[in-house]
Amino acid sequence: MSLHLQSEVSLKAFNSFGVEVGARLFAQAHNDDEVREALRLAESHDLPLLVIGGGSNLLLTRDVEALVLRMASRGIRILEDDGERVLVEAEAGEPWHPFVLWSLEQGLNGLENLSLIPGTVGAAPMQNIGAYGVELKDLFVGLTALDRQGGELRDFSLDECAFAYRDSLFKREAGRWLILRVRLQLSRVAALRLDYGPVRQRLAAMGIEAPTASDVSRAICAIRSEKLPDPAELGNAGSFFKNPLVSNAVAERIRAEHADLVGYPAGEGLLKLAAGWLIERAGWKGFRDGDAGVHRLQALVLVNYGQASGEQLLALARRIQADIQARFGVELEIEPNVL
Ligand code: EPU
Repeated sequence: MSLHLQSEVSLKAFNSFGVEVGARLFAQAHNDDEVREALRLAESHDLPLLVIGGGSNLLLTRDVEALVLRMASRGIRILEDDGERVLVEAEAGEPWHPFVLWSLEQGLNGLENLSLIPGTVGAAPMQNIGAYGVELKDLFVGLTALDRQGGELRDFSLDECAFAYRDSLFKREAGRWLILRVRLQLSRVAALRLDYGPVRQRLAAMGIEAPTASDVSRAICAIRSEKLPDPAELGNAGSFFKNPLVSNAVAERIRAEHADLVGYPAGEGLLKLAAGWLIERAGWKGFRDGDAGVHRLQALVLVNYGQASGEQLLALARRIQADIQARFGVELEIEPNVL
């Protein structure tokens, strides 16, 4: 099957903010050959290639003068199984949450805390997705990527990916590596992580005393659904800012005025502050300007009430950044890719 190339395509359905912008060219790749064909076509049209997954970590601020390639490759397979540890490989285009559910149905533990994260398997390593005390890197074994510079396939080990909080080699070398499939090590033996935030509390409220991984997944789905808007109903890209790392001295200065500051120890005299707390305390929670707004239940999430443009959402983000800088002396870094 060869690639179906379309011109002047609306990307509204392909970005979770639901922003209306056009792509000069658009195609969906179902396998490695189609990815290579897209690269060739982009070159012959003298256009850059922009690869997207679920479009859930993306803010598009204008029409995209590129060939936009949506990864639509599917396939999940067990590569090794010693009865306890199970090596699983999934294609980049697999939607993330159904992949998590598949693993739980197989009796595999490990991904439960990462339930209900929007996006695709191939996008997960880009920003080392994380939630409720677990990050992708904790399960990660390796991935196969296409080097767009030389056209070669390359396997990356965990160390080579240089994962950090919402960061990786692939994010830093944006545009070089095209992730094709990802390998994770899951386990038939549960090692549940219940300590983060309200997970244990929620399980108790559900009347569950000895939780399974599926129970944890259900609890996390419930917590997320309460606070995080469903992109199908209200456009958003999850957390719009990273939680900032500050020195203990900076945290103490803020705490002198705000005793209820929320932060978590992050090693070596550092604290990771809850950006949602800073933004809420600055009065932005529930703020709305036209169709661009700050979610009323989670201040870290910017939302599109319908017709907001990417530029309007970005302008709101800039106002928030400037205000947090002025009030607390803390710099907020934007988390999604802004194009
Ligand atoms: N908080 C507020 N007001 C708010 C939001 C948060 O005061 O409006 C405070 C609360 O005290 C809360 C604390 O911040 O206890 C932490 O809030 P929450 O548990 O909602 O987590 P978060 O730090 O805001 C991070 C991730 C989320 C992830 C959750 C749960 C980042 C940038 N975000 O959010 O990831 O789901 O933890 O682990 O690290 C995403 O990356 O898109 C995302 C949703």
